[in-house]
Amino acid sequence: MAKAARAAKVEHMCTGCGFRTSRWLGRCPGCGEWASIVEECAAPGAADAVAIDRVPPESGERLSTGIGEFDRVLGGGLVPGAVVLLAGEPGIGKSTLLLTALDRLARQAPDRAVLYVSGEESLAQIRMRGERLSALSPGLLLRSDSSVADALAAADRLGPLVLAVDSVQTLHVAGLDSSAGSVTQVRDVAARLIEWAKRTGTPTLLVGHVTKDGGIAGPRMLEHLVDAVLSFEGDRSHAYRILRACKNRFGSTNEIGVFEMKGKGLEEVCNPSALFLAERPRGSSGSAVVAVMNGTRPLLVEVQALVADAAGGGSARRTAIGVDSGRVALLTAVLERKQGIVLSDQDIYVNVAGGATLEEPAADLAVAAALASSFRDVPLDPRTVILGEVGLAGEVRGVTQIEQRLGEAAQLGFVRCILPESNARRITGAPLELCGVGTLGAAMEALLT
Ligand SMILES: Nc1ncnc2c1ncn2[C@@H]1O[C@H](COP(=O)(O)OP(=O)(O)O)[C@@H](O)[C@H]1O
Ligand SMILES: [Mg+2]
Repeated sequence: MAKAARAAKVEHMCTGCGFRTSRWLGRCPGCGEWASIVEECAAPGAADAVAIDRVPPESGERLSTGIGEFDRVLGGGLVPGAVVLLAGEPGIGKSTLLLTALDRLARQAPDRAVLYVSGEESLAQIRMRGERLSALSPGLLLRSDSSVADALAAADRLGPLVLAVDSVQTLHVAGLDSSAGSVTQVRDVAARLIEWAKRTGTPTLLVGHVTKDGGIAGPRMLEHLVDAVLSFEGDRSHAYRILRACKNRFGSTNEIGVFEMKGKGLEEVCNPSALFLAERPRGSSGSAVVAVMNGTRPLLVEVQALVADAAGGGSARRTAIGVDSGRVALLTAVLERKQGIVLSDQDIYVNVAGGATLEEPAADLAVAAALASSFRDVPLDPRTVILGEVGLAGEVRGVTQIEQRLGEAAQLGFVRCILPESNARRITGAPLELCGVGTLGAAMEALLT
C-alpha cells in the first residue's frame, strides 16, 4: 500500500526541459529525451523524510466483500493493496467463503473483473461449487494455474478489482529446485503475490492450508509477510464456523465472524449468542454462561467444567479448551485457598462450548463458578449470567463495557447477572436483576445456595 500510494503522488520532472508528469516515463514527451525523467524531491533539504502533516492521507476507502461477517473481521472491508491470508484446515470451508465473497464483489463492480486463481481444483469443479452456492457472476473470472508467473501475467492483463489465489501451497515459482508446497516455494510464491498486490494496489486474498497442529510449510511462516491473517475455524462435525483475525494491520484482532455451513453455502449468523447457547444442558452441574466482548460485539458463551476424582492416584489431569490453562490453574488455586474447594486430587476438564474462546479476565468468575458447580454437583441457575475478573486474594474485579454485556444477556432471556460490586454500583436501569459481589465467596454464595 505504502508503495502504491507513493507512486500515485510523487511528481516526476524532466531534467532537460522541466516537463512534469505524475508517472515515470522512459522518454520525455516534452523534449523527446530518453531517460531524462527523474522523481522530484518534494521538499529540497528535507532529505528523504516527509513532514507528517504533508503525507497524503489514505483514502480510507474499503471494498466490501458483500459478506457482513467477513467485512467485520477485516476491519470494515478490503483495503487497497492489502494481502489477506485466509488460513484453515482442509475441508473447513475456505474455498466456499472465498467463492461467495468473490461472487459478491464481482456483482458490485460489473465493469471490473474479479480474478480467482485455483491451483487445487479444475474450472469445472469450481463451477459446480458456484452452482451450489448461486455464485455465478459473469464478472468472476477463473483460472487454473500452477505457476505464479502465469497467474500474475494474467492478473496484469486483467487489472482485476480483487485477486484471489487458492491456495498458496499449490502454486510454484519456476526455476526453484524445490516442489510446490515446500517452505521455499510457499515463501517465494507469497513474496511475488505480495509484491504484485502492493505495486498495483489490488486487494489480494490468499488461501493457506494449516494442519491441526498449525504447521506444515505454510501459513505460520507467512504470517509476518501478509497484512492480515484470518483463521477459519470450527469443528467439521458441527455446522458453525468462526472467522477470526489473528493479525490485522488494518483493523482490530478482536472481531470474529460466525457462519453456519449449509448445503447452499455459508450463512451468516447474526445472533451468535443464541447459537452458542443452543445446546446448553439444563439442570446439570458445571455449566456457566458469561458475556464476553469480541471487539465491538458482546457474545454469550457457555463454559463447562467437569471435576472428577483422579483415577489411579497419579497426577491429576488438567485439560482446558478455549480458555488459557494458566488461568484455570490460577482459579483452581484461588478456589482451593479461599473457598476450601480442594481440586488438587481431581481431574479437571474445562471446555468452552461451540469452539468459542475466552480471552478476557472478565470470564474468570464464570470459569470458577463452573468448576465449583461441578465439584459440588449443584447446577447453576440457567437464566443467570456471570461476569467478573477474579484476583489472587479472591476479590472480584470490575469489567469493561458492562452495558453491552447486560444488554445482550437480557435480549437472550437472562433475568439475573452476578457481577462485580464496583460495576453494579454504577448501573442504573439495568435490563435484568443485578447481584453485585465483591469476593469469590460472595459470588459462590449467590450462585450455589
Ligand atoms: N455437495 C455439497 N453439499 C453440501 N455441502 C458440501 C458439499 N460439498 C462440500 N460441502 C461442504 O463444504 C466443505 C468443503 O468446503 P471447502 O470450501 O471446499 O473447504 P476448504 O477449501 O477449506 O478445503 C465440506 O466440508 C462440506 O461441509
Ligand atoms: Mg479449498
